[in-house]
Amino acid sequence: MRVSVLNGVNLDVVGRRNPELYGGLTLKQLETQIFEWALELELTVTCRQTNSEGQYVDWCHEALDWADGVILNPGAWTHYSYAIRDAVEVFEVPVVEVHLSNIQQREEWRRKSVISDLASTRVIGKGPDGYRVALEYLAGSK
Ligand code: DQA
Repeated sequence: MRVSVLNGVNLDVVGRRNPELYGGLTLKQLETQIFEWALELELTVTCRQTNSEGQYVDWCHEALDWADGVILNPGAWTHYSYAIRDAVEVFEVPVVEVHLSNIQQREEWRRKSVISDLASTRVIGKGPDGYRVALEYLAGSK
């Protein structure tokens, strides 16, 4: 099973952002963890991160032809990007929405996700471990 992990805007600086909210790992460390979990679960995973919304949409389109499941953390785009929502709507494979922090218990504007109804499941507020939970979910949906 092939899984595309797409991290969005500002997730390249997670190691320097509030560790209580985001878990303290750098993106590189997080991706290393994801590859280790994927190996255990016998999943083939690609991890990408961008601060460009158009690039994120392009990678969603690329994943259409490659992935059997996707894990999306669009960062702040989650809360307002209808361009990303439209791209996510095209997926016919399971989509897992992941957030390191608990967006339901932060500022009011973070509570809204424009992709939540398109996600097969959501993993919120579990820190880096949320990606493991997401991978396990996809492995179980094979
Ligand atoms: C985030 C939550 C978003 O509200 C925020 O803008 C991020 C990260 C998370 O993983 O907790 O950049 O998606």
